[in-house]
Amino acid sequence: MAKNKNNQTIWVSRIKKKTSNLFQKVGSSINIDKRLYKEDIKGSIAHVEMLFKQKIISFKIKNKIIYGLGKIEKEINKNKFEFNNKYEDIHMNIEKRLFQIIGEEAGYIHTARSRNDQVITDLKLWIKSSTKEIKLNLDKIIKSTIKIAEKNIETIMPGFTHLKNAQAISFAHYLMAYVEMFTRDKKRFENNLNSLNENPLGAAALTGTSFNIDRNYTTKKLGFKIPTNNSVDTVSDRDFVLDFLYSTSVCSMHISRIAEELIIWSSDGFNLINLSDKIVAGSSIMPQKKNPDLLEYLRGKSGYMFGNLFSMLTILKGLPLSYFKDMQDDKEIVFNSYDNLINSLKIFDEILKNISPNKKNMYELANVGFITATDLADYLVKNHSMSFRKAYQKTAEIVNFAEKKRKKLYELKIEELKKIEPKLTNEVLKIFDLKNSVNSKKSFGGTSFENIKRMIMKYKKIK
Ligand code: ARG
Repeated sequence: MAKNKNNQTIWVSRIKKKTSNLFQKVGSSINIDKRLYKEDIKGSIAHVEMLFKQKIISFKIKNKIIYGLGKIEKEINKNKFEFNNKYEDIHMNIEKRLFQIIGEEAGYIHTARSRNDQVITDLKLWIKSSTKEIKLNLDKIIKSTIKIAEKNIETIMPGFTHLKNAQAISFAHYLMAYVEMFTRDKKRFENNLNSLNENPLGAAALTGTSFNIDRNYTTKKLGFKIPTNNSVDTVSDRDFVLDFLYSTSVCSMHISRIAEELIIWSSDGFNLINLSDKIVAGSSIMPQKKNPDLLEYLRGKSGYMFGNLFSMLTILKGLPLSYFKDMQDDKEIVFNSYDNLINSLKIFDEILKNISPNKKNMYELANVGFITATDLADYLVKNHSMSFRKAYQKTAEIVNFAEKKRKKLYELKIEELKKIEPKLTNEVLKIFDLKNSVNSKKSFGGTSFENIKRMIMKYKKIK
């Protein structure tokens, strides 16, 4: 980049003393917001095109500015742009460079706008495209999860409540639960597009402008749907930032829950899934160890995202309208949450490709803890006209008996069962079969094989 002849700040005509070094250092956000350069240039081009259309600037000036901005974009793309702390942020760095390239006519670019509307235009555009990237990554995870589910429809495992064996379930049904969670995440990000599609440009500093601007024009040019309604609200509003941070928090919370679940399932006590060597770490002292570090990394990362959401809420709490420097931190927070989430999604996809169920152990563990007791109670209701409470009580008696005898429910003899409930016949024994138990849950959304297949089909079709 050519040496800047005019190396003074934009407000030198008003502020006479050199900015304190400390203030320059902390006040500058260029190292963070330079990430917005593409959006900033896009916004500026739309803005000057609108100014020309409205006869606020000439054809020649518009073209010169657009030429200069194009050149700047190339310089930044090629790492040839010299970002300067002194010019505080991406907006002023670009404006300063525009002066060097096209001269005094660069001074027209900031007609009828302020950095206050400019910065949120940039940030909204950035979050919109980042949202697309997040959704693509969520799609990948959903696909990888379905792939494992398809192969495990009849893989039977214990379903847990309170981490105690509850009822038998298909491994695929658990996996499809993750698909539901990630699909909700996608929807949450999609819903945010409503406010992201409102164009802030033209709100100027806080009052709007006396220039005859056309906000509908820039709205269309920039791919927004409508202009925002109120200029003061526009420059004060960071709700769209909170929406984004909340959505990243929820998504990372989902990942954290699943990571914890997989950690438990891969632990020696459970041993229900295997983690391939690609995603485990050894110990420096215990030669036998294979630790689920990567899953723990994911479980922990959600902390950052929650922290970011709370930082932003706290920054905004009690902040009067309209713009304050406090809000400048929004970008660092958003970028951090985005980077962490994308990272976590990519890692999670890698994990999905490196886990496999321990089918035998799953089945064996499913036979622990009288897991078919509820099936027995349901059977008594359906076949021996008992109320559910009565059947519950009878089944509890049978479970107590089995426990005393140190037997599993399926090991009980029909004579033993009859002693507790004389109406029972041999037919009841099929109730203790795990596969039968899983497949009997045919209510919509239940773990029957047919239901799972239907859900897999449904999600395979969604794009
Ligand atoms: N870099 C600033 C930010 O991100 C841009 C807005 C500055 N506006 C102002 N009135 N100082 O918040």
